[in-house]
Amino acid sequence: MKASIVVLPGDGIGPEVASAGVAVLRQIAERFGHDFTFTEHAIGGDAIDRFGDPLPPATREACLAADAILLGAVGGPKWSDPNAPVRPEQGLLAMRKLLGVFANVRPLKLHPRAAALSPLKPERTKGVDLVFIRELTGGIYFGAKTRTDDAATDECRYTVGEIERVMRHAFDLARTRRKKVTSVDKANVLETSRLWRSVATRIAADYPDVELEHQLVDSMAMHLLTRPADYDVIVTENMFGDILTDEASVLAGSLGLSPSASLGGPGAGVYEPIHGSAPDIAGKALANPLGTILSVAMLLRHSLGLSTEADTVEAAVDYVMENGNLTRDLGGDATTHAVTRAVLDACEAKAEAA
Ligand code: NAD
Ligand code: IPM
Ligand code: MN
Repeated sequence: MKASIVVLPGDGIGPEVASAGVAVLRQIAERFGHDFTFTEHAIGGDAIDRFGDPLPPATREACLAADAILLGAVGGPKWSDPNAPVRPEQGLLAMRKLLGVFANVRPLKLHPRAAALSPLKPERTKGVDLVFIRELTGGIYFGAKTRTDDAATDECRYTVGEIERVMRHAFDLARTRRKKVTSVDKANVLETSRLWRSVATRIAADYPDVELEHQLVDSMAMHLLTRPADYDVIVTENMFGDILTDEASVLAGSLGLSPSASLGGPGAGVYEPIHGSAPDIAGKALANPLGTILSVAMLLRHSLGLSTEADTVEAAVDYVMENGNLTRDLGGDATTHAVTRAVLDACEAKAEAA
């Protein structure tokens, strides 16, 4: 098949992990006879430096015309002055809003070897297989903001329609899995959470085969570590989802392993690892590329409908997790490039065997 893929490398380790993702896509295209074209565009701090805009018009247009978007990461100390007029992260948020990708899918599956690297005891992490659906285009991230010399505000707003569509996404997914949805909110304090909870309860009535439980976000942060295997699909609002997914990534051994897909818009899906630009390790070849490579598998499956190819990439990552030298965050001393090479070799072997 033909597909046009926009690549947004961004800042810090963004370009390092994005190029690993592109290498895997190129190999899959060659192996399975597809015609993928890759176009790189500026986003984030890199785009501020070059164009004075974290999401320049050429990037916007390319994203709107693409079949899928692969993003590295944005941000870094260079652009993080709290008084800066514009920030790299605004480019990412504007892109998500532009594409209308309201459902951010963040799966967490534990590899046996990663479980040994998790700071939690292996009996705690045994059997963990969960997916977060994080609402991505609403809430406090996108509400009105004000700032004066002595005060600032961030408005948190959700409409019924915004909650309904992400809730349905979660319930539809749960139907294909273990049929359990945990809706996370702060309904004991926040009005938006009370609306969230009432919509969740109403939508659940359309899915009698799926169990719904409500959980407050503060205790959820604890339960994620004490009984993570009890969860199947976890649906939550934008900021709670941001925080809980970084926390949950540690169960698998490293933030560098977690992929994501941002779906639900009329056009392309956005695929990115959940981690940031990791300024502390940028340029040192220490970045774990596996979160991005697993995001590429999600891209193949969700935007291009290529499930055999996606399975091949996931099996190759499993093989490397089992047998390979990994990056430092997972206790190894391999470079980003060496881990990527190992995945490419494993893809080749899997495709050969298929
Ligand atoms: P971060 O995710 O960049 O890094 C947190 C820690 O995890 C660091 O110690 C880092 O070295 C490590 N880490 C992250 N990814 C790794 C990988 N692939 N391999 C090995 N180690 C990895 O979070 P931060 O330091 O709080 O944020 C840095 C910048 O990234 C900020 O400007 C922030 O806004 C931005 N950010 C961007 C995105 C994105 O573009 N999607 C996501 C999160 C944070
Ligand atoms: C993420 C990041 C972003 C978010 C930032 C960089 C805007 O933390 O993708 O998880 O908060 O959504
Ligand atoms: Mn985040």
